[in-house]
Amino acid sequence: MIKVITYGTYDLFHYGHQRLLERAKALGDYLIVGVTADDFDKNRGKINVQQSLMERIESVRATGLADEIIIEEYEGQKIDDIKRYDIDIFTVGSDWVGEFDYLREYCDVVYLERTEGVSSTDIRSKDRQVTLGLVGEGLVLNKFYNESQYVNGLTVGGICSGDENQLKDFDDDLILTQDFDELLNNVDAIFIVSHPSKHYKQAKKALENGVHVLCESPIALKEEELCELFKLAKKNNLILMDSIKTAYSTAYNRLLLLAKKGKIGDVISVDATCTSLADGSGDDWNSITAWGPTALLPVFQLLGTDYKDKNINSLLLDSAENFDLFTKIDFTYPNAVASIKVGKGVKSEGELIISGTKGYIYVPAPWWKTDYFEIRFENQNENKKYFYQLDGEGIRYELVAFIKSIELNKTGSYIDINISKEISSVMEDFNNNKFNNL
Ligand code: CTP
Repeated sequence: MIKVITYGTYDLFHYGHQRLLERAKALGDYLIVGVTADDFDKNRGKINVQQSLMERIESVRATGLADEIIIEEYEGQKIDDIKRYDIDIFTVGSDWVGEFDYLREYCDVVYLERTEGVSSTDIRSKDRQVTLGLVGEGLVLNKFYNESQYVNGLTVGGICSGDENQLKDFDDDLILTQDFDELLNNVDAIFIVSHPSKHYKQAKKALENGVHVLCESPIALKEEELCELFKLAKKNNLILMDSIKTAYSTAYNRLLLLAKKGKIGDVISVDATCTSLADGSGDDWNSITAWGPTALLPVFQLLGTDYKDKNINSLLLDSAENFDLFTKIDFTYPNAVASIKVGKGVKSEGELIISGTKGYIYVPAPWWKTDYFEIRFENQNENKKYFYQLDGEGIRYELVAFIKSIELNKTGSYIDINISKEISSVMEDFNNNKFNNL
């Protein structure tokens, strides 16, 4: 019996996939199809596969061509599979010519002519394209612009910046304007990264004008305003999402999952530090707005938002009102504690430590853009290190989630609305001077 194996993503199953599977089957007597897992795809740069693994497996099964379907989960699995299933022929489309020659040591390798004129990427791009406008100032604007190039189904239509000089960084076939209304009239969605004091007004205006909003956290500096914006988004059938890129990092999501599954026992303490010294770019976000949302994220995602008490200590810059150079917040929960340290004028080790009754999770600096963490135990031999690829600091995955939410008309945000609310409430307390001045 000749056994054949082939691998693919099979997103939005199309004629090209069908033809490939037919010819693969014809090469032998028994066909095994490896369907790539979502994480594996992410790691090799296919970030906006639209269908779930289950849906993609179902499409392959429905052809009736596969005698067996397996899931491809890791680099190097092909060799393992070929040995395990005693494969005679490995085959893929001609877009991969040469790439799998190394497998000839184990079996025959056949490249089948790729069907012209059809691909999952094309089908994904033909779906409604979302035109995105970028609003605000600073390097994040450039980062989002660059990252948007990796996301199917999205085109940047224009940039609105208060900083005329910054507009010069972008292609002039875009709408480059200082007029927010002009931008709103020409886009379907916006990403806001203006000064936090402008977020609420800009988000509100966009939502009133039928434009979806992804807004750098904090979306609003008052809880009431935040609730009003989410209500408005709902009423107008629009997506409003809080932007904290760390929420979309694979490593961060894995550590949340492991902590919640009890890997380190009960979580007793979450300690997050995020600091950066002013880079002279005129960036005027204070510590609590610049870093607070990111540092608060693991606290609220792990311990929830029902804390009993919080205590804010801030060091203010003399000359400016409520501009904190450094803030430390301590939270008390019924069975746990947490602390965040954020600074724009004080530097510290940017690590995240989650302490539990059986062990702890350690994420080295800068934990908010990590691809790596460790779980450590009393017995060092049980320690484990985890690596996950992080592309574009999480921004591109965040954009994919935003575009997908717009397409499906249902929020796919990784940040629960209660967490966004609590972040705004912390900002509000700080702005109402509910802190101890150091
Ligand atoms: N394939 C093919 N002809 C096409 C598209 C795909 O023969 N027009 C083959 C690929 O070479 C591969 C298999 O089908 O062996 C699965 O491909 P996959 O990467 O899932 O599909 P694509 O349409 O190429 O996806 P994308 O556009 O996301 O790269």
